Amino acid sequence: MRSSAPKGTQDLLPEVTAAWQQVERQFADLCHLYGYEEIRIPTFEHTEVFQRGVGDTTDIVQKEMYTFEDLAGRSLTLRPEGTAGVVRSFVQNGLASQPFPQRLFYMITAFRYENVQKGRYREFHQLGVEAFGSEGPGIDAELLAMLWHYFGLLGLEKIDLHINNIGCPNCRAVYREALLDYLRPHQAELCEDCRGRLERNPMRVLDCKNEGCQRVTASAPLILDHLDETCQTHFSGLKRSLDALEVPYTINPRIVRGLDYYTKTVFEFVSENVGTQGTICGGGRYDGLVEALGGPSLPGIGFAMGEERLLMEMEAQGALRKPRPAAQLFIGSMGDAAWQKAQMIAQNLRKAGVAAQYELCGRSLKAQMKYAGKSGARYVMVLGDAELEAGEAQVRSLIDRDREQQTFSIHDTGALEAFFLAQTE
Ligand code: HAM
Repeated sequence: MRSSAPKGTQDLLPEVTAAWQQVERQFADLCHLYGYEEIRIPTFEHTEVFQRGVGDTTDIVQKEMYTFEDLAGRSLTLRPEGTAGVVRSFVQNGLASQPFPQRLFYMITAFRYENVQKGRYREFHQLGVEAFGSEGPGIDAELLAMLWHYFGLLGLEKIDLHINNIGCPNCRAVYREALLDYLRPHQAELCEDCRGRLERNPMRVLDCKNEGCQRVTASAPLILDHLDETCQTHFSGLKRSLDALEVPYTINPRIVRGLDYYTKTVFEFVSENVGTQGTICGGGRYDGLVEALGGPSLPGIGFAMGEERLLMEMEAQGALRKPRPAAQLFIGSMGDAAWQKAQMIAQNLRKAGVAAQYELCGRSLKAQMKYAGKSGARYVMVLGDAELEAGEAQVRSLIDRDREQQTFSIHDTGALEAFFLAQTE
């Protein structure tokens, strides 16, 4: 039987995983600088965690979840995102009793039954954070400054930050009525999706990509004109901090986000390189979610970025670094005694932190050298009877053919190790 991976999933092969590891390592290092500790949550949760967390009226819960019954008849769902599971864990494990703000980061796979296209998969990866217990806009700005810092470290220059404030339940109730009053007479001009979501979630009509819907919403009332005083003060505090921290942003009153839990600040980092979706990272504040999932009344804020889209963006901006070579040194050998020595030298080098390989397929020396060249090794050393007798061997560069060969002892490998360690620094 010949079988291929399910639609919307991807194999990440060795030629790309070095870049994935690089962005993940840099993300974890940066999170630590800002006080975030890693949390690992289950891949699946009880379905109600997402129904109550992400929200019953969202596209994710209504159309995109991988839900199944286990053998005991429980309804379980593969996580479509990380926030609901992190909040469930935060509440269940009593983390609310720790000093605030509590900062957590995660690197997860997520699953959504979506129409597959460029930058949109059914299994994808998210790098995200959630911070609990801080009510003011200071942490909103800190989080956006951290993302800006991260994109800078990755060498990404052309990403735009869009921010909005979608109010608290108080101002949103008033706004919802104003928006419905405006949209209802235009119902026939909306796309099928938006006609369906009009009464359930009218704000989603604002970020629909359909041209007809965009024409209708061009003069729709805006949430920013309906914010109460607390939400207005929060938004101006955020803008003041972003200006002070020199994080450039655009105010985009159309950002509403596709998940129900958001309150006040919402934001997206967008680029033209990642397909029709365009969003590399999205997030915002969710001041009612901890309580909705059975915890105390505590504010929260977070973001998640799609790793696939992040790497796509890095490629488009020429920011992907070359993967490291498979080995610093390949040790070729002729004869069993030389092979045994090669085995020992390679092992000593690895223990010292140098990537080394030796022959493991019984090839001729000529074939070994051909393999070494193809494998991406930077240097080769050849061991035969003459080298064993002399107790030393020569190291030759495969990258710079004009470079002089260097001779090293094959019994005391200290100098050989020092040579390669100096190359990796
Ligand atoms: P989201 O906007 O649904 O938010 O997803 C965040 C990011 O995940 C998107 O900007 C995108 O880069 C990536 N993403 C989403 N769906 C797909 C897909 N089908 N294929 C590839 N990438 C995708 C959340 O998930 C929230 N939990 C973010 C958050 C954390 N808000 C507060 N805390």
